[in-house]
Amino acid sequence: MAKNIVFIGFMGTGKSTIGMRVAERLKKTFIDMDREIETLNGMSVAEIFRHYGEIRFRSEENLMARKLARQKDLVIATGGGTVLNRENVAVLKENGILVCLDADPSDIQARVNRKKGSRPLLKKESSLADIEELLQAREPFYACADIRVTTTGKSMNEIVDVIIDRLKAMGYPPGNSASARPASGGMTE
Ligand code: S3P
Repeated sequence: MAKNIVFIGFMGTGKSTIGMRVAERLKKTFIDMDREIETLNGMSVAEIFRHYGEIRFRSEENLMARKLARQKDLVIATGGGTVLNRENVAVLKENGILVCLDADPSDIQARVNRKKGSRPLLKKESSLADIEELLQAREPFYACADIRVTTTGKSMNEIVDVIIDRLKAMGYPPGNSASARPASGGMTE
């Protein structure tokens, strides 16, 4: 059994797409928190915001983070705002490795504007200044990550390879990496 791999990062950085690929490579189950919340509530994230407001969505998000953090061997894509709640970070970190995906604001802008209307915290057509402002405000929250990987300028395969290498260097999966072996050749407990 291994810790969960938890993707965090701003909207449009590719948490779901990359998370799914990493899960495939590691042969783990992939869970997208927003999709789980949608299934549970029978409505989209945008509808939850519209009908019940952000506070209700954040509460659903917190319940889901706590539920998933109790499991192991998952690859989880969080929503861009999941780490704004300290309790979410604490529970997800307790049993998981947090991987933050970063991207240039212009990349994020192009990606979020491709899916207009699906992200209630952004305007229908987000300007670069809107994105930069929110990115700056959120940066201190994303700093809780164990691993940070920039996706801009890299192919999907390159990103996945970098993440898997960084995980290996941290001893993931346990018992299957160079760093898990003692450098001196001495005994481990
Ligand atoms: C949010 C990001 C969204 C979704 C919700 C709120 C945020 O997920 O959870 O709209 O606060 O950044 P993505 O990061 O997958 O877009």
